[in-house]
Amino acid sequence: MNNLLTLGNNGTPLTIIEKSAYSQWLASQSQSNQQWLQQTNYHGEGLALLPNFSTKEEGTLCHAIFVVENASHYFACGNLITLLPPGQYKLNAAKEYHQAICFGWLMGAYEFSTYKTQKAKETKKELPSLAVIDQELIDSAIRYAQATALVRDLVNTPAADMMPQNIGDTAQALAELFDGQVSQIIGEDLLVHNYPTIHAVGRASVHQPRLIDLTWGNKKNPHITLVGKGVCFDSGGLDLKPAAGMRNMKKDMGGAAHVLGLARLIMSHKLPIYLRVLIPAVENAVSSNAMRPGDVITTRKGITVEIDNTDAEGRLVLCDALAEADNDKTELIIDFATLTGAMRVALGTEIAGFFTTNDKIAEGITNAGNKINDPAWRMPLYQPYTDLFSSTIADMSNCSAGPFGGAITAALYLEKFVSKNTNWVHFDVMAFNVRSLSGRPLGGEAFGMRAVFNYLQAKYT
Ligand code: BES
Ligand code: ZN
Ligand code: ZN
Repeated sequence: MNNLLTLGNNGTPLTIIEKSAYSQWLASQSQSNQQWLQQTNYHGEGLALLPNFSTKEEGTLCHAIFVVENASHYFACGNLITLLPPGQYKLNAAKEYHQAICFGWLMGAYEFSTYKTQKAKETKKELPSLAVIDQELIDSAIRYAQATALVRDLVNTPAADMMPQNIGDTAQALAELFDGQVSQIIGEDLLVHNYPTIHAVGRASVHQPRLIDLTWGNKKNPHITLVGKGVCFDSGGLDLKPAAGMRNMKKDMGGAAHVLGLARLIMSHKLPIYLRVLIPAVENAVSSNAMRPGDVITTRKGITVEIDNTDAEGRLVLCDALAEADNDKTELIIDFATLTGAMRVALGTEIAGFFTTNDKIAEGITNAGNKINDPAWRMPLYQPYTDLFSSTIADMSNCSAGPFGGAITAALYLEKFVSKNTNWVHFDVMAFNVRSLSGRPLGGEAFGMRAVFNYLQAKYT
């Protein structure tokens, strides 16, 4: 990533212009440039390459222009790096666009090629490099791009290579990079330490379930705890998913990926907070010792839960982790989870839905997301729906029997494990691009991560 953005002022000028300013820009150009653009049928949208017309360098590349609708959109330049011929360019754009341009530039280079053979990789085109005059800006763009790439890589990695142990290793490596600590409770020890639901969901897999606990920063700073759903593969359990529903369930550890990406942003920016990241990591598998529909589990908090559907496993692993997060007095708990199909139905695949009891935090996150083109939409914790997951034999059931309001009932379930006076935000995210957009290829994606980071950054610096 480092060679894609360089400090300096050398290279072919690359001018980024907004559509609304194009005609004015065109009018300021030489007769030859105007004629070239007209004859190459350029209409002021996307990339245009201008040649040198002076006799000495005639025919060489002189100038590249890229016209976009909105240059401050973080993905406006998301496909630019792959469109330009290789070489060294220097950025020519209004300063206020630089941050978004640099981020989009880097994200355009993202590719998940771990499983391509060397031969396939060799045919890959060489990427251009962009010179920018501000090192701060380069560093910041790289930090955002690395965190986003981390989320994407973790989600894209096939489940066989991204089991609880691999998530644990990733957390460990990340902690080492920034001087954090990781401890893990693995397998039967989960029962010893009273994490019954994490154990129940994960016990049927040959890959032992675990609770990963990363801490970082100065304990005197405000405590913030992130919790991420780390279901490495969600087969549905005994309530097995049909083929189409199971196909992409390697992404069910997307919440874990999001909190690790967010932790990376927080640690690389050295935010003055004390960070704790809790990841219940399990595989929801089928075996003779799998939890069954109708079983009752006493959760860490003491609430008894009847398993109505083994496919509603995310809230089960999260509820013990949330209870622990809440034990440890923190200023704010934020969880991320690929929790319900219902959230996709409500908001589509490209908006992160979130729930919180705190109006101020909701507003802060929404505004931060809008600023940085990472939309987050608040959903209601509508209390009367609590009745929908009541149980006749236990304190509650793990899901509602009906087909409606699934994202809300899942959030209400989680709310039961966080005390009333704790600030808590729950994100239900897709973690996956199902269509390719500029700078956002098909596959793993971070949703709401930059929004939350910007909210935290504004609050804690
Ligand atoms: N991991 C799924 C939710 C999911 C599905 C997220 C598709 C993103 C895309 C979760 O564990 C699940 O299976 N939820 C069920 C809950 C139901 C059984 C109450 C769902 O949403 O159908
Ligand atoms: Zn499930
Ligand atoms: Zn799941």
